[in-house]
Amino acid sequence: MDYYKVTLVILMVKLNAEMKETFAKIKLFPVATASKSGVPNVAPIAFVLLVSDDTIWLADNYMHKTLANVKENPHIAIYLWEPDSRKCFQIKGRVAVKTSGPDFEKMKATVKAKKDEYPAKSLLVMKITEVFTCLPGADAGKKLV
Ligand SMILES: Cc1cc2nc3c(=O)[nH]c(=O)nc-3n(C[C@H](O)[C@H](O)[C@H](O)COP(=O)(O)O)c2cc1C
Repeated sequence: MDYYKVTLVILMVKLNAEMKETFAKIKLFPVATASKSGVPNVAPIAFVLLVSDDTIWLADNYMHKTLANVKENPHIAIYLWEPDSRKCFQIKGRVAVKTSGPDFEKMKATVKAKKDEYPAKSLLVMKITEVFTCLPGADAGKKLV
């Protein structure tokens, strides 16, 4: 394993049961990235799958600035806001882009099964590194894991 991968494994954290329950209820995810020079970007993305407690897959069908950003700066953030339970979590991580291999093919099959015309251009594999609460109140912004 190279130095970057070892460092990332050390930084990775797992979502707890409450976070996973909330994740499962979200239909659309705001996905924030930034260019190398720090220009921010946020895009609505629906194909966001929690594949294990510490890994999220995002399907790139129509990404442009998002894809360009993660290729030059792997940092990414999403938030989950679930109004019925009033749960809110900010999830940060790092992305690797895949355009081949078993994980990419699995994502492509999942996306195509939904609608064949989706291009499924690439797979963004997000390793979770930090989770914060984004509820207002005394604990606002507190790091949870
Ligand atoms: C409801 C909704 C769901 C979307 N889901 C996806 C998705 O799963 N994957 C994708 O690549 N684009 C998706 N898009 C399209 C992107 O948000 C859109 O192409 C956007 O311009 C990408 O931003 P960017 O150019 O800054 O990367 C979705 C758009 C909407 C409105």
